[in-house]
Parts: sequence; structure tokens; C-alpha cells
Amino acid sequence: MAMTAELPESSDGWVRDGAKELPVEQQTLRTRPELQAPSDTPRASVVDLFCGAGGLSHGFRLEGFEIAAGIDIDERCRHAFEHNNEAPFLRRDVASLNGEAVKELFVPGRLSVLVGCAPCQPFSVYNQKNHDPRWQLLEHFARIIAEAEPSVVSMENVPRLVHFRGGEVFTRFLAALKRLGYHIDWRIAFAPDYGVPQRRARLVLLASQLGKIAVEQPTYAPSEYRTVADTIGDLPMLAAGDIDEKDPLHRSSRLSPLNLDRIRAAKAGGSWQDWDEELIATCHRIPTGRGYTSVYGRMEWDAPSPTITTQFFGFGNGRFGHPEQDRGLSLREGAMLQSFPRRYSFVESDDEIEFKKLGRMIGNAVPVLLARAIARSVQCHAEEHA
Ligand SMILES: C[S@@+](CC[C@H](N)C(=O)[O-])C[C@H]1O[C@@H](n2cnc3c(N)ncnc32)[C@H](O)[C@@H]1O
Repeated sequence: MAMTAELPESSDGWVRDGAKELPVEQQTLRTRPELQAPSDTPRASVVDLFCGAGGLSHGFRLEGFEIAAGIDIDERCRHAFEHNNEAPFLRRDVASLNGEAVKELFVPGRLSVLVGCAPCQPFSVYNQKNHDPRWQLLEHFARIIAEAEPSVVSMENVPRLVHFRGGEVFTRFLAALKRLGYHIDWRIAFAPDYGVPQRRARLVLLASQLGKIAVEQPTYAPSEYRTVADTIGDLPMLAAGDIDEKDPLHRSSRLSPLNLDRIRAAKAGGSWQDWDEELIATCHRIPTGRGYTSVYGRMEWDAPSPTITTQFFGFGNGRFGHPEQDRGLSLREGAMLQSFPRRYSFVESDDEIEFKKLGRMIGNAVPVLLARAIARSVQCHAEEHA
């Protein structure tokens, strides 16, 4: 495999001086689009609504875009967003955000790009009853587009949004963009098709006032999908409940004696069905629980991981057991499977590290490599219409 030892120091300050030190997005063939150096001139000015820890912004930044600001209601995302994206984090509720104020954040004279991934939970399969009022944040996204008039818009969410409430919410969003004169393209993107070592599907929408725009076609064939082994195979070994001495994010949650017995019995790609009867939880023995087979499994080395949810650090929450060590995924491993660079900083050095808080930031993020593909689509479009 062609490695990139001669690449210059990156803007995130990480010297890429050897294969082991390469961040996930660089550990692949040189011909990949994400390895082509972005131009030195910042390409456009990006404002990120619902910016979270900055997965989406970081993808744009790695493609040479300047991030003007990130906006989110959760103060706990400030450090990760600002530290890795050299841009201010503005704590605001998008529901009461004025689009005129967003317009002023864009750098004058540059292409204005408004990106955003509103909370996905209201549309998710786990929220079948759809009582979560946060789906209305998508309507506020549309309102802010109308008020801020960005040249290009990028919207990401879970595929289920397309059919939510019989398709009414998505159709309204599309209609609002069309009324404002935007050209639109959207697709359900499968993250491994863009180099992400994780099975995750996302709705990706692009809209432009400049003319026709298209979401980039897949760049990885199934035979080339990046795997769990490619991504986290060289991380130091850990026991359940331990913390790596060099990277406080490489920590895994404690396991009870019963769960330790269970993970020892777990097979890669399997579930609790592989265990002896006495290890199986009562809820899985009864008829209504027998169908839940995608929990208490180990990941497979030679395949992309399952979708990294906000609960990925819990062995019982999915197929999130380490492929061979007797523990769940560490926070760092989850972040790397989301294609965050290995040194992405999520908390200040003296901050307490909470699994729940970090799990939410990491699991909610747009995978950085998917974000890079979106950013390249925007760049390609901008060059066509320059
Ligand atoms: C799916 S996550 C965004 C992930 C982010 N784009 C990334 O790639 O890392 C949704 C974000 O919306 C934020 N959020 C939820 N309600 C909000 C509101 N009313 N106003 C602003 N942000 C909100 C959450 O705090 C969360 O960080």
C-alpha cells in the first residue's frame, strides 16, 4: 500500500511521519480524492448549523474550506469544534436564530456555504412514535436558508427522514428550496462507498443557487471497503475498564463479571445466540426478545464496523465488542470508525471524560470522510460555475 510519509505537516498539527502515525483518512491509496492536497486558497466560507463536535465541518476543512462558525445549543461541543476547526462556536438555539445574523458570519466575497445536520433522533427508527418535537428544527433550517440566502446548502440526516410523516416533512423542505430558486440533488449515501470503515447510511442533500449540483459518486467499490482492522488494528491493547496512558480517549467501559463471561463467549459477527444457555439474558429467552440478535456481539476485523451509535461504548448496545480483546469499543476507536483523525481532540486536557457525553458527540457526527466527499462535491460545483 502506498503510504504518505512525505506528506507535509497537516493543518491539525499532526506530523505524518510514518504509517503508524497516519490518520485514518490518509491510510489508503494515494489516488484517492481525499489525498489530493486542497488548494492553499480557502475555497469558500462555511457556516455549520447543529455543528456538534464538528465532524461535518472538519471534512470541509480538510478539503480546504474555511469554517466561519459553528452553531449548536450544546455548550459541551465547544472545545471539540473550536480546537479542531479554528472557528468560533456559537451557542444558540436554531429555533430562535435569526438568518440575517447567520448571513453576517460568512466571509464577504467568498462562496457562502450553509451546512447542517439537524438532530436525527426525531426521525430515527428507535423513535417510532415520532413524538419528538425536534423534527421542527428542519423547518427552522429551511427558514434560515430563506433569510441567510447562502449560495450553496448541504443538509444531512438519517434516511428515514425521507419517509417521516408520509414524506410530508422532506417534501416541504424540498419545496421551500425550490421556491427560493435552488437546484437540488440528494442521495442516500452508504458511508463505506466513501472510504468510511463503518456501515452507515445517510441522506445527503446539496442545493445551489449557481446551477445544477450533484453529490459525488461513490469512490470505493465493495471490494475496497475499509475495515475495522485497517482503522483500529494498531491501537494499544486494553482491558475492560482500562485507560491507555498516552491517549485518555482510548478507554473502554467496565464490564460486570457476567458480561466478561459473555464477551469471552462472543464470536466476531455473532450475538448472544452463540452463548451457553446460562449466559443468555432473561429478556432474550422470551419470544419477544429472541429477534434482538444484533446485540452482545463482537465486530469483525475484515469488514466495516456496524453503525456507530451514541451508545457504541456499551458491549450490550449493539455488535460493539472488540474483535478479539474482551471489552467494548474505546471512545477513540468509535471516533476513528467515524473517520475522525486519530488526534482529534474532544475535551480539554483537564476535563473529565464521560462515556455518555463523548458517545453522543462521536455517534451523532457526520463521518469525516463522508463530509469530505460532500465538500468535494461543493468544490467541483464551484469550479464549474466560477
Ligand atoms: C446530528 S448532531 C450534529 C453532528 C455534527 N454535524 C457533526 O458532524 O459532528 C445534531 C446536533 O444538533 C444540536 N442541537 C439539538 N437541538 C438544537 C437546537 N435547538 N439548536 C441548535 N442545536 C441543536 C445537538 O446538540 C447536536 O450537536
